[in-house]
Amino acid sequence: MGKKTRILAFANNKGGSGKTTTCANVGYSLSLLGKKVLLIDGDMQMNLSLSFFSEEEVLKLASGEKNLYYGVKKQEDLSDYRITTPYENLDLIPSSTLMSGIEYELFTKWQREMILKNCLAGIRESCEYDYILIDAPPTLGGWVINILCASDGVILPVEASPWGLFGVANMFEFLEDVKKIAPGLALLGVVITKLDARKNYGRQTLEALKAFEEVSVFSTVIRVDSEIEWAQDNSRPVYAYKKSARSALEYMELAKEVDNYARRIRQH
Ligand SMILES: Nc1ncnc2c1ncn2[C@@H]1O[C@H](COP(=O)(O)OP(=O)(O)OP(=O)(O)O)[C@@H](O)[C@H]1O
Ligand SMILES: [Mg+2]
Repeated sequence: MGKKTRILAFANNKGGSGKTTTCANVGYSLSLLGKKVLLIDGDMQMNLSLSFFSEEEVLKLASGEKNLYYGVKKQEDLSDYRITTPYENLDLIPSSTLMSGIEYELFTKWQREMILKNCLAGIRESCEYDYILIDAPPTLGGWVINILCASDGVILPVEASPWGLFGVANMFEFLEDVKKIAPGLALLGVVITKLDARKNYGRQTLEALKAFEEVSVFSTVIRVDSEIEWAQDNSRPVYAYKKSARSALEYMELAKEVDNYARRIRQH
């Protein structure tokens, strides 16, 4: 108790950039570092939930009422929507395919950008967690605005590929717009993911990112590693699947960096 809870979103409108993989593995690594972590699956694809539970379990959670969709739709305190994962210090609020309709649900509500923030107020005030990590879908609508308004910081995973930076300027502009209603939101940094050392895109991606002043890039880069997919196929974070995997060590390093930067941002 007595902790300060930092809420961080993993967002990028570019699909497949590594948001979910990074959210799940940074979350697990932080829990191994002794931090208490709550993961929130904000995407109808339910990939974050599937990172910890089998398809059967996830579909069961999605078809019940104990998932993010109902919590947000009913504008309830999300404390009751948490479930424990098989890992110590790591809880999850699962998603549902119904999340595809969340924009519609929010549309007519009063102060609709702040609904998720309000739903999380109780958990934040309880100071039970060091980190709440939210996995965002690859969109830029009202629901992602909710996720960002609920967050203290945002991390942008960018894939080191020819199209990885496609749309990233839009994303930065979008973040600037969101800051008008969430002035405390900090862009923690860009994480380069899925780097294939045999190709040259890593350097190209870094060079292109330099064009955006005031955008910092995490020094830990996540390289392509097939163990990630094996781990996901087994509903486990990569460190829990194979401790010696390169990506397991990289995500541990990234988690330390995230912790280091996130401590410095102020809460809003
Ligand atoms: N370092 C890596 N090495 C190999 N494969 C990876 C790596 N990181 C992610 N992947 C794979 O790339 C795909 C996309 O990753 P992920 O689901 O994390 O991206 P995302 O940004 O969450 O996607 P979406 O926009 O659909 O939510 C997944 O199949 C995942 O297994
Ligand atoms: Mg995802």
